[in-house]
Amino acid sequence: MAEGDSGDVVRRDRFSGGPAREFLSSLDADRRIFDADLAVGRAHVVMLAEQGIVGDGTAGEILAALDDVEAGGHGALPEGEDVHAAIETAVIDRVGEDGGKMHTARSRNDEVATCIRYRLREDVLDAAAATLGFREALLSAAEAHTETVMPGFTHLQPAQPTTVAHWLCSYESAVARDTERLLDAYDRANRSPLGAAAFAGTPFDVDRERTAELLGFESVVENSMDASSTRDFLLEATSALANLATTLSGLAEDLVVFANKGYVDLSDDYSSTSSIMPQKKNPDTLELVRATAGDAASGVNGLLTTLKGLPRAYNRDLQRATPHAWETVDAVVEAVDVAAGAVATADWNGDTLAAVAGEGFSTATGVADLLAMHGLPFRTAHEMVAVAAERAEQRRGRSGTSPPSGDAAEGSSGQRPRDGTDYEALGAAAHEVLGGPLDEYVDRADVEAALDPAESAASRDSAGGPAADAVADALADAERGLDADADAVDAERSALADAADARRTEVTEYV
Ligand code: ARG
Repeated sequence: MAEGDSGDVVRRDRFSGGPAREFLSSLDADRRIFDADLAVGRAHVVMLAEQGIVGDGTAGEILAALDDVEAGGHGALPEGEDVHAAIETAVIDRVGEDGGKMHTARSRNDEVATCIRYRLREDVLDAAAATLGFREALLSAAEAHTETVMPGFTHLQPAQPTTVAHWLCSYESAVARDTERLLDAYDRANRSPLGAAAFAGTPFDVDRERTAELLGFESVVENSMDASSTRDFLLEATSALANLATTLSGLAEDLVVFANKGYVDLSDDYSSTSSIMPQKKNPDTLELVRATAGDAASGVNGLLTTLKGLPRAYNRDLQRATPHAWETVDAVVEAVDVAAGAVATADWNGDTLAAVAGEGFSTATGVADLLAMHGLPFRTAHEMVAVAAERAEQRRGRSGTSPPSGDAAEGSSGQRPRDGTDYEALGAAAHEVLGGPLDEYVDRADVEAALDPAESAASRDSAGGPAADAVADALADAERGLDADADAVDAERSALADAADARRTEVTEYV
């Protein structure tokens, strides 16, 4: 439609423009649902023809016009308040007045709701597929590092030795739940609101199941007022993405810290430098991954605050809700791919990790466990090892009193010298707390083994623990879960592709 013309089919002369014209329009933002609107239009027109609501000849002309509109692309659309109005205008431009029959028994309200769901399905599947790639990267790195011992932290303080594989698997488990949440959100998005019309249904004999089928939806959203109004499916998918982004942010933070400590070298491809300090190699990509949780949280918040308190049924606020979801999905999918690349290309420094794995007397819990296994109540063993930790610090001559943390006894490298000090301190503590020598309770060799970070990690073979066998079991389970999820994503994608093929076949009957 020419510049300055009266506008679109919806606005007519009465609402021809004015200062709010741009403000009202979602045409640019609707680029994302251009293909969706064409599909929705086709399914609707095929159904109208099948139901005898529109003649086959007119249906054919409208469907041919839609093909032509598609060929021109979103950029060639005439002016319009939104993509729905612009496409309808374009069809009428081609077909003449009868082109307006396309909008029989529908409203832009059920139309836009259907378009958003249609497009969201693709985006959610892309996001789920991105999580699969990320999980694959985590698992293959884990397979290579089941024996690579590293310090594990709580409160960012050395806590217990673990392995790199155990750390990686911990994130894979979390991301697997993110995949699951996305697929759950997919199920509820995959329902068709089409045929709800403005909100109050239609006197035409529409077949809602048929349009749902032609669009590859699993079912229909039954209540027409609910169908045209609700955006809970958008919120659900966006929340799942925010959850995923939050998982990612934790992994990114860990890697930033690990890179800082020299535990891991990030590939140059996932690092950046400084414009002034030439020697710098910074983990910028991971910092941006970490920050993406902020984008996703703002997407959820934007949706919640836009949707809160909206009365039934359709309100134009809904137009501003949708972009929050698109922005979130784009930001999060990009971050997932970057995180996957960073993990796949990271180089773990096994020697450094082994040297620091015992820092902060992190094997202390294992020694207490050992004593408890030999019959001492765990609480008594805990007390005895705590006294030993203090004595070891004193023996290493730091400050003469009680240093505030285990770290202080190890110097800047964090490495804990295996010089017998810990064993001697345990012996002293045994006398103090238990009133007798340590070897009355447990052999020295067993204590020395418990003090060894690698043996310590290897001893914790409970299900889900860091011992290599336990991790091997976890990896096998994770691989099975990954395959099942990949099958689920493939099945949904082929259901959509099949529906698109079937729709094309139906359309061809008329054009
Ligand atoms: N573009 C609108 C949206 O995104 C759909 C238009 C429905 N407009 C209306 N006035 N009922 O929600």
